[in-house]
Amino acid sequence: METNLDPALSLSELLDRQLVYLCELVDTDSRPARALLTDLLGPSALRPLSRPPAWPSSVADDGTPVEFSIAFNENERPTLRVLGEALAPVPSGAANLSAARRFVRARAAEFGLPLSRFERVHEVFAAADPPNGFGIWQSLAFGPGRRPEFKVYFNPEIRGVDEAPGLVTEAMERLGLGPSCRAVRQRATRPGELGRLDRLAFFALDLHDGPHARVKVYLSHHDAQARDVVAAAGAVDGIDPDEVAEFCALAGGGTETFARRPLVGSYTFLGGARGPAGYSVYVPIRSYVDHDAEAYDRVSALLSRYGFDASVLERAIAGLTRRPLHAGVGLIAHVSLRLGPPRPGVTVYLSTEAYRVFPPRRPMAVGEPGRGEPRPLCANRSESE
Ligand code: TRP
Repeated sequence: METNLDPALSLSELLDRQLVYLCELVDTDSRPARALLTDLLGPSALRPLSRPPAWPSSVADDGTPVEFSIAFNENERPTLRVLGEALAPVPSGAANLSAARRFVRARAAEFGLPLSRFERVHEVFAAADPPNGFGIWQSLAFGPGRRPEFKVYFNPEIRGVDEAPGLVTEAMERLGLGPSCRAVRQRATRPGELGRLDRLAFFALDLHDGPHARVKVYLSHHDAQARDVVAAAGAVDGIDPDEVAEFCALAGGGTETFARRPLVGSYTFLGGARGPAGYSVYVPIRSYVDHDAEAYDRVSALLSRYGFDASVLERAIAGLTRRPLHAGVGLIAHVSLRLGPPRPGVTVYLSTEAYRVFPPRRPMAVGEPGRGEPRPLCANRSESE
């Protein structure tokens, strides 16, 4: 299904509108966010949405180089995060990778970010001609009254699947995390499945050097069951792996084997520790629901269960689309649970649907419960936060 958007609208105009709304929702100034996104996407984002994406980004299923998420944190207000892929004026794997490095260095100069960790590892994840996947992605996080926080994602498979474990080990060693890396190696994957069903998906770095600066290693687990991510989470001391099982059961609506899109898990490493400090699990909920009304019901139940205000999600969605939730699938892309420091909580990933709304797997039956009503695109400040 095409979107209902005005075809003359450009990607940057749409994202700008969505950002202004979401920034208000989380009570942060939208100006830095808008400037950062304009800079990240460059002139490619000025194309009208009636034309295909300038670059088929895999950040989102419809090729949009941006995905939003709302992070619900214990004892803190929700924050807005933007995952984005830097686009060169004439996008290609190599040109986008250079654009991404330029973006990181320019923001470091602008915001006074320490780059030593980035400089130590970026060439580990370099390739002259990155495959279609990606070179570097960025995450930009905005919270109430805070300066933006930056995270960089590298592609461990940038030189092919077989090279990925060596690249991650090398990067961990360069960051002084060799022992931590060894601490998870045995338990992170099913026996013999590294590079097969279990794949190194991302290697990420926070661009600051506070005590909570994280290094994160992400694995995607194809055809996995909850017990496989429970086993992976077992490499982390001090968290309850059963939480992971329960979360997968609720988010997956009872799915036993996640045979469509893979479950993803990530380990968080903080400087100095001898092992991982935290674990997160990401359920690609869009592959395990018929439509977004079903995803919404599941995610809002999960948010309430963890004590978060589900109305924030409802309002976030209202700022992204007017379509009835049962009329498509994929608006709610992932939902994740973060266990352990620095910030336990739940994150909900939301698509922009700039280029496409995917049709529901099974339409909603008449009289079926579910939140199907159209929502107004309300650009006004919402109260009651
Ligand atoms: N779109 C990709 C995927 O679904 C990458 C991605 C975007 C992703 N946001 C994510 C992966 C959140 C895990 C969690 O795999």
